[in-house]
Amino acid sequence: MCGIVGFTGNRQAAPVLLDGLSKLEYRGYDSAGIAVRDGESKTEIIKEKGKLKVLAEMTDYGKAVKGTCGIGHTRWATHGEPSAVNAHPHSSDDGNVIAVHNGIIENFQEQREKLIKKGYVFHSQTDTEVAVKMIDYYYKKYSQQPIEAIARAMVRIRGSYALCVMFKDFPGEIYCARKDSPMIIGIADGESYVASDVPAILKYTRNVYYIGNMEIAKLEKGNVTFYNIDSEVLEKQLTEIKWDAESAEKGGYEHFMLKEIHEQPKVIRDTINSVVTDGKVHFDSVNLTDEEMQQIGLIYIVACGSAYHVGMDLQYVIESLTSLQVRVELASEFRYRKMTLNKKSLVIVISQSGETADTLAALREAKEQGIKTLGIVNVVGSSIAREADNVFYTLAGPEISVATTKAYSTQLVAGYLLALQFAKARGEIEETKYNELLEAIYSIPDKVERILEDKERLQWFSAKLINVGDAFFIGRGIDYAIGMEGSLKLKEISYIHSEAYAAGELKHGPISLIENGTIVISIVTQNGLIEKTVSNMVEVKSRGAKVMAVTETGNYFLEDTAEFVCYVPRIEPLFAGSLSVIPLQLLSYYVSIGKGFDVDKPRNLAKSVTVE
Ligand code: AGP
Repeated sequence: MCGIVGFTGNRQAAPVLLDGLSKLEYRGYDSAGIAVRDGESKTEIIKEKGKLKVLAEMTDYGKAVKGTCGIGHTRWATHGEPSAVNAHPHSSDDGNVIAVHNGIIENFQEQREKLIKKGYVFHSQTDTEVAVKMIDYYYKKYSQQPIEAIARAMVRIRGSYALCVMFKDFPGEIYCARKDSPMIIGIADGESYVASDVPAILKYTRNVYYIGNMEIAKLEKGNVTFYNIDSEVLEKQLTEIKWDAESAEKGGYEHFMLKEIHEQPKVIRDTINSVVTDGKVHFDSVNLTDEEMQQIGLIYIVACGSAYHVGMDLQYVIESLTSLQVRVELASEFRYRKMTLNKKSLVIVISQSGETADTLAALREAKEQGIKTLGIVNVVGSSIAREADNVFYTLAGPEISVATTKAYSTQLVAGYLLALQFAKARGEIEETKYNELLEAIYSIPDKVERILEDKERLQWFSAKLINVGDAFFIGRGIDYAIGMEGSLKLKEISYIHSEAYAAGELKHGPISLIENGTIVISIVTQNGLIEKTVSNMVEVKSRGAKVMAVTETGNYFLEDTAEFVCYVPRIEPLFAGSLSVIPLQLLSYYVSIGKGFDVDKPRNLAKSVTVE
């Protein structure tokens, strides 16, 4: 996620901004910038692609930039490649309005077109530049008052934002506006601060205000005034931050993994909204025409690790909704197989980092054979994103914990939307069914939220796994794919040996491993396969296994067989994986911390495997 900071007071702003941005580096970024002003002087903007070190060297660690009022930004690219032009701060051409922004403006294209008609020129590919010029337009068109200009823009912007704005006519002042993106405002003697997160200001003050959604704040030196969207003044209570710096970076969560598990509702919603407007999927960014979707006969999904497990789930979804055949391949195998790819196929590579060596090599192999490629990628401008013919960006934001959770979930949802669009383009789905399924996809974030509200029971059950030596995950269809992900989560952060099996496969060998006390975790959500999986659960239970089940609310009969049942909300079975995976993420997390392991940095693992 992007990071924003702002300061106005009686000391030099640039060093404060750079220091604050350094405390937000954990949020992940690819470029950075600051804008600093000294009284009535012209504002100086310095911004560049790369890490903060680049900016520090350009400004002699802030000493070369004079001024006691400024804003700063670390950018995690969502619209537009990482570059100096796309880096923040963004400014109106005459310097009247300068701003930094964290969030996603969903309707920025339409607003951009309107502003172009009004004579505005755009230099970057960002949604933020559109917001800046919207504010500039309203400022000049109406009363030249910052609060009113910002409020008029807020009414027309759809999406999320934490905005910090400086106006040429109002030296020494910073105006902030917030909707859904995080923002904290701090105050000290003669000084005011704003930032995306507490760590950036904790060194200077623990006295903070929480700005609410659709609220605006005016920061002067040592004084903050809050307004609602109607420009009416709001009274706010000052709060004292009790956190230490380390825990503050995790937004109050103990670990990044837990924080990222809890970010899933928001990032799933952001990913859906990035391609769905007014109840329709718009794949402009994916750049696959209906005709192309009709001509494709086979889809290869190629990835590694959890991304491969996403492919395993999507295989069932795509084959259920269309007449397409889907083959899911491990990238490390795919790249070396002397396989002639079907000319009328599409190769979809899935990668959070966009830098996984095996997946990148598989992509290049497909392109070598002249096959159309599509990347489902989280990091804008990454190698896979740049080299694939088309890219569908997940909007998970930076994922710090090595064990993926939110990126995995956004990849799943991206795949559902792709499957739906393929079915529609190929005339293989009725309009009513299409709308029903889209509605179901829209319901995922709230249902994930509900699961996260009830995690204490999982914490209790996780204690039973602390000392087990082996665990088995079983399921059929999509449940099997989710079992694979659950097994990997447990393995990689708690170091417990675990395997995922298609439940029907147990009798072909693995059941010989079941003995007294063996843990078997069954995922049971797929209509028509539930009874079959239950009989497998009975088989292993009769051989001494301790059985846990993840199933949908209402399947209470499973309590006759399973010692512990975790319920998730009911949903269209095709999308049940997005819900049943959540308890498995939490279970692994609790087992890992119960064993005292470094859950965010498990042994032997890297976040991105950029070597073979
Ligand atoms: C999952 O928790 C692991 N961190 C790992 O399996 C990961 O999914 C795999 O290395 C692929 O990474 P990518 O999505 O960045 O390509």
